[in-house]
Amino acid sequence: MFKLFVNTKRQMGHINPEIQGHFSEHLGRCIYEGIYVGEDSEIPNTNGMRNDVVAALKEMKVPVLRWPGGCFADEYHWKDGIGPKESRKKMINTHWGGVVEDNSFGTHEFMELCKQLGCKTYVNGNLGSGTVQEMSEWVEYMTFDGVSPMAKLREENGSKDSWTVDYFGVGNENWGCGGNMTPTHYANEYRRYQTYVRNYHPERPIQKIACGANVDDYNWTDKVMDTCFQAPAWLHGFMDGLSLHYYTHPGGWENKGSATDFDEAMWYQTLNKTLYIEELINHHTAIMDKYDKEHKVGLIVDEWGTWFDVEPGTNPGFLYQQNTMRDALVAGINLNIFNKHCDRVKMANIAQMVNVLQSVILTEGAKMILTPTYHVFKMYNCHQGAELLDSYVETVKIGTEKDQVPNLTESVSLGTDGKIHITMTNLSVNEDYEIEGLLADAEVTEVKGTVLVNEMHAHNTFDAPEVVKAESFDGCKVVDNKLVFTIPACSVLHLEVTVK
Ligand code: AHR
Repeated sequence: MFKLFVNTKRQMGHINPEIQGHFSEHLGRCIYEGIYVGEDSEIPNTNGMRNDVVAALKEMKVPVLRWPGGCFADEYHWKDGIGPKESRKKMINTHWGGVVEDNSFGTHEFMELCKQLGCKTYVNGNLGSGTVQEMSEWVEYMTFDGVSPMAKLREENGSKDSWTVDYFGVGNENWGCGGNMTPTHYANEYRRYQTYVRNYHPERPIQKIACGANVDDYNWTDKVMDTCFQAPAWLHGFMDGLSLHYYTHPGGWENKGSATDFDEAMWYQTLNKTLYIEELINHHTAIMDKYDKEHKVGLIVDEWGTWFDVEPGTNPGFLYQQNTMRDALVAGINLNIFNKHCDRVKMANIAQMVNVLQSVILTEGAKMILTPTYHVFKMYNCHQGAELLDSYVETVKIGTEKDQVPNLTESVSLGTDGKIHITMTNLSVNEDYEIEGLLADAEVTEVKGTVLVNEMHAHNTFDAPEVVKAESFDGCKVVDNKLVFTIPACSVLHLEVTVK
């Protein structure tokens, strides 16, 4: 029996809905085919956006969407993607498969997509190969309502009203594909570029995000914070967020391994690599704390998720991979960790939303399937905007000699619906665990549950789309005000507890 302790009166911080954010890049079949099929497509769409995909995403709740990249962002020139579609520039997507990018999805289409999804916007600017003027004009085009050349151009292109840009990334991976810069060089460039990311609407300011570290490049975090954090008092600061990118590629960068064909040792190796993100968050936070004790700057994990070998027979530049129960566990573990660090982690964006890496949706022509990761995001959306509660679960180490992981992870919040939400993952391939949950200072009146459970390789296909799906869980009993239940092997569980 493992004990779960919840202090219902001790709130640890606000869980920004954006912690469950998404990322969509001009990469493979993410934007084109996966989301945007164009107005003339036979696939049912609204202003070019697939109706099936948008409906599924709305049901899951997308709080924020990052676009247009990724590496693509630092080669993207936004003026190529506005105006009449037939005259938009056709170009090569150098990063991803060398395919033709016809720019039919641009700024107006992204804003339309976010409107349909009802989500916040996170636009990533081009610092690597674009000019300060270009970035500044993009911000003016998107957000300025008065008399100006860019506002006029936007109106000519069909949008009189400006849009809200909630977050703006000043470059992406500028230590690599975004210009191969040193941290100090980038930090100085960041100070210059961000100056011209103007806030035309003080009541809905743009949150500026600086490019952060790759994995454990702590020197990058230190140098960027040192150069960019301190701003004159009359400015609000140079930065609101600093990003972090960390992917789980189980076999390493050179040999990532198959998405569907793996053994138990690889299962535990994957989960162990995923758990490493907590050490990264702690370490980067400690460095940020040196400069920013009050946690004004958010750690923005704007790329995370599994990265396997591409599905056999698909374009290697498209990064298309299947999604199994192993991905479900990776999602559940990460989202629990982000919740626990919500005082510093203000946004996280899984890579990527449709048809690329750890996607929530896969498409094939007019068909669409929901992945195990989709179901986890839907089960966890109860935490969006909730207050994290102090909680702890007893665990033991399981796995292989090389890869020891805790058998359970959890996080608990007080939701905006006034209920207590417990999300748990069981990392064991084959062992169920009995849990006794103690909720201090609360009287339990009702418990409802949802579980995602199956064997480790289970996944959905276009021929069998519902092999993995969330089901209701009625195995939780209330005994002497304690929650008594068994969490099945290889599962993700959500309990919704009503208390008085
Ligand atoms: O998500 C795929 C790529 O991974 C992104 O374009 C880049 O930022 C990262 O290296």
